[in-house]
Amino acid sequence: MTLEEKLGQLTQLGAGQPEFSAAVGLVGSVLYTTGAAETNELQRATLAKSRLEIPILFGFDVIHGYRTIFPIPLAMASTWDPALGELAAHIAATEARAAGIRWTFAPMVDIARDPRWGRIAEGAGEDPFLGAAMAAAYVRGFQGNDLSAPDSVLACAKHYAAYGAAEGGRDYGPVEMSEATLREVYLPPFHAAVDAGTGTLMAAFNSLNRVPATANRHLLDDILRREWKFRGFVVSDYAGVTEMIDHGIAATPQEAARKAITAGLDMAMWDNSFATLAQEVRAGRLPESVVDQAVRRVLRAKFRVGLFADPYTDETRAAAVTLTKEHRDAARRIAQRSMILLKNEGALLPLPKSGKTIAVVGPFADSKADMLGPWSGSGKPEETVSVMEGIRSVTAVSQAMESADLIVAVLGEEREISGEAASRASLDLPDDQQRLLQSLIASGKPVVLVVMSGRPLTISWAAEHVAAIVQAWFLGSEGGNAIADVLFGTINPSGKLPVTVPRTVGQVPIYYAHLPSGRPANPGDKYTNKYADTPIGPLYPFGFGLSYTRFEYSNLKLSAPSMTMNDRLTVSAEIRNAGNRAGEEIVQFYINDPVASVSRPVKELKGFQRVALAPGEVKRVEFTVTRQQLEFWSDRGWLAEPGRFNIWIGPNSVDGLQGSFELLH
Ligand code: BGC
Repeated sequence: MTLEEKLGQLTQLGAGQPEFSAAVGLVGSVLYTTGAAETNELQRATLAKSRLEIPILFGFDVIHGYRTIFPIPLAMASTWDPALGELAAHIAATEARAAGIRWTFAPMVDIARDPRWGRIAEGAGEDPFLGAAMAAAYVRGFQGNDLSAPDSVLACAKHYAAYGAAEGGRDYGPVEMSEATLREVYLPPFHAAVDAGTGTLMAAFNSLNRVPATANRHLLDDILRREWKFRGFVVSDYAGVTEMIDHGIAATPQEAARKAITAGLDMAMWDNSFATLAQEVRAGRLPESVVDQAVRRVLRAKFRVGLFADPYTDETRAAAVTLTKEHRDAARRIAQRSMILLKNEGALLPLPKSGKTIAVVGPFADSKADMLGPWSGSGKPEETVSVMEGIRSVTAVSQAMESADLIVAVLGEEREISGEAASRASLDLPDDQQRLLQSLIASGKPVVLVVMSGRPLTISWAAEHVAAIVQAWFLGSEGGNAIADVLFGTINPSGKLPVTVPRTVGQVPIYYAHLPSGRPANPGDKYTNKYADTPIGPLYPFGFGLSYTRFEYSNLKLSAPSMTMNDRLTVSAEIRNAGNRAGEEIVQFYINDPVASVSRPVKELKGFQRVALAPGEVKRVEFTVTRQQLEFWSDRGWLAEPGRFNIWIGPNSVDGLQGSFELLH
């Protein structure tokens, strides 16, 4: 290959960009072109011009569905069911591949502990353990066992790394953090994605400890390639290479490109900066072997997805595999399990299917576009079920509040103020919605609040005054049906919060796995770790969620009082469905190391299981403790220190049965 041919393989452009038309036949990857016919046409034009007949790798953001849209990832994480995430990703891959896409820019696996950051919608929330489980599941779902199969696409774990920790929650902002926080909190989902075989990663927009992720050797080389043995390739985010000029670490695109490729970046998205590397090589500032290595990684991926064997897409396939009944059914099933029942005073829910007139009100009552969420692929509003439609398919709906017996209010945020470039400084309901809610409550009629949002909202007033609250996030194509399924009790809600809900934005960052203070928060003592004007603790804790039945936890058992470093221990408890409805409970397992050489989080999730229980049924749920779960990042790498550990099995991050064991040398 000539140097220009090589650099073309390291460049990804949009087909509409002027730089692209000038370089057809050279450019290695194209983003945003979709459709079997459209991608085939571009592929033909490319192969006709490419001296070595190297096909284009088509990439697209298939985040939570391609045409059949699934709940946003924050909602899918609320299922605490990685198998459902895997299924959604597999269906998305099937539909996307039939539309000519070979590579998705997903999963987004950024941990987010700041709901002001709009992109919290795209990930699995605040916890690294849950985040890692979802990350691995998505990678398996997208890629399958054979990347060249007609239902597989190449995955791209993004945004590497620590993008979710942007200062002030402002998108694209800088991040400074300790190596320990990076390793223990922000990297585990990426490591899990790599272990699950993700073919690619995307470098994040942010700087990490003053070096943009796009050219961060510590991230791209030391950790990703040397420690984790990643063999795929890394693409920048959109114009991430030229943005290094604004970060202040390069004066020209050429200098930025040299720094990026030298640090371990293989492909530049949306800019032609890598083409300028020819001059760097010829001037002796960049060894050509660095370019060769990146080209090898990109070409290997093209072989793996089967592009050289068949660069085209069967144009008849999409119709048969897109938005099928089976796909819609799966979207509904997943959406049913993504909702979280936050409050249900006086068992207002489930609602009766007949005999009562229901008014469905609020700006999102009949919105289809918002239901799709902020990254809706090729999803179409007209193929989406609104809340109004879902409820109407079960019972009569009255538009007039006056004649209704009860009110379902669908409030929250528009999809445009969630997702990328949608950071918020307030997490309250917008004023007009808050006023509407207050007037509904003033009417004296029972009110059910359905919250549609891409982040936890500070609904403190509602939590006090509204009888029933369902956190519904953005649920995708079948959202309205799934919401009706929960409201009328066809389905017993089972989701749990993958993120802490603050009382007020001033509490942010607030997350359950925080480090202790020398003066733990105490309402009776002024000089403790709290605010003077806000109660201690969140509005709803991480892991919280109610059901139409009740679960009781009892009989905590440890298989032994201690374990050695190479041992294992099992911890179990009995969970009983004490109500009269079948239900599913997400049982959670937490650990704490109360005395170590460094301060450790007050609790850390280390296991979870979704269990189905018939009324009266009891099941013993078991978790295994391994040394790895007890380790933390130290100056000497991962380390577990002997001593006593606390454990909890419980329904959320606050409640539960507590025990302890000893870790021996
Ligand atoms: C986003 C990425 C996305 C890319 C391509 C960027 O603005 O940060 O998540 O994959 O655009 O659409």
